[in-house]
Amino acid sequence: MAVPVAPEAPTQQKSGARAAISERTLRTDRWWQPPLISFTVLSAFVIYATWAAFVNGDYYYKPYISPFYSPCLAHVCGAKTIHGASGVPHLSLFGPWWAISPALIILIFPLGFRMTCYYYRRTYYRSFWLSPPACAVAEPHKSYSGETRFPLILQNVHRYFFYAGLVFNSILTYDAVLAFRNHDGQWGHVGVGTAVLVVNAALLWMYSLSCHSCRHIIGGRLKHFSKHPVRFRMWGYVSKLNQKHMQLAWASLIFVALADLYVRLVASGTLHGGWV
Ligand code: FES
Repeated sequence: MAVPVAPEAPTQQKSGARAAISERTLRTDRWWQPPLISFTVLSAFVIYATWAAFVNGDYYYKPYISPFYSPCLAHVCGAKTIHGASGVPHLSLFGPWWAISPALIILIFPLGFRMTCYYYRRTYYRSFWLSPPACAVAEPHKSYSGETRFPLILQNVHRYFFYAGLVFNSILTYDAVLAFRNHDGQWGHVGVGTAVLVVNAALLWMYSLSCHSCRHIIGGRLKHFSKHPVRFRMWGYVSKLNQKHMQLAWASLIFVALADLYVRLVASGTLHGGWV
């Protein structure tokens, strides 16, 4: 009588090794959609922002200034006469020798803040480097070193870009307040541009305050929340915002480009009228 033989046990994987599956993934859903959408939107933003930063024109129409060009730190900002108004409000930290776009002086800060953001890192690692493109989908790269080596170890500077971002948010909030003045400098003006700059500043604040570093700065390293009731309460607020970090990241990114576009359309004369 034949003795039944137990089926051979599958080969055990060493700890840390990938499962021996020949398919790239066993997922049957549309896992490729989110990285494709992210790739498309981020690419469109990068192309638009690069053009807007280099074009060096139509970034101011009193009292509106494009968020890509504020603060204006070059002498060249004040040297221009725009629509009969004398120059863009500016600080001449960079003298007449700075002849190219003043946006290039400041964009490293908001750019660095976004590039090192935990959420954006996940997004562009997936959508641009396919590392991995989605959960449970094998990546095409042979090795993986995470963010432990140069240059990705530099992502750790995110906290410092967060502090710089707060300075920029304050300046853009100031710009939004100035947008309540009319072309002649009198207070009480409310145009579409006013609303655009106010919403832009609000979204940037919410994006910054929902930052993971912000949450840690406010509530991290505490052994007893009960001994720090104010920080605990603030930590609760930013934790709620933190749950919406992804949505705020996209909303603030898209809106900052729209705010630049709006100012550009007004400054170039494409949009005009009392309502602007
Ligand atoms: S984690 Fe996204 S801005 Fe800090």
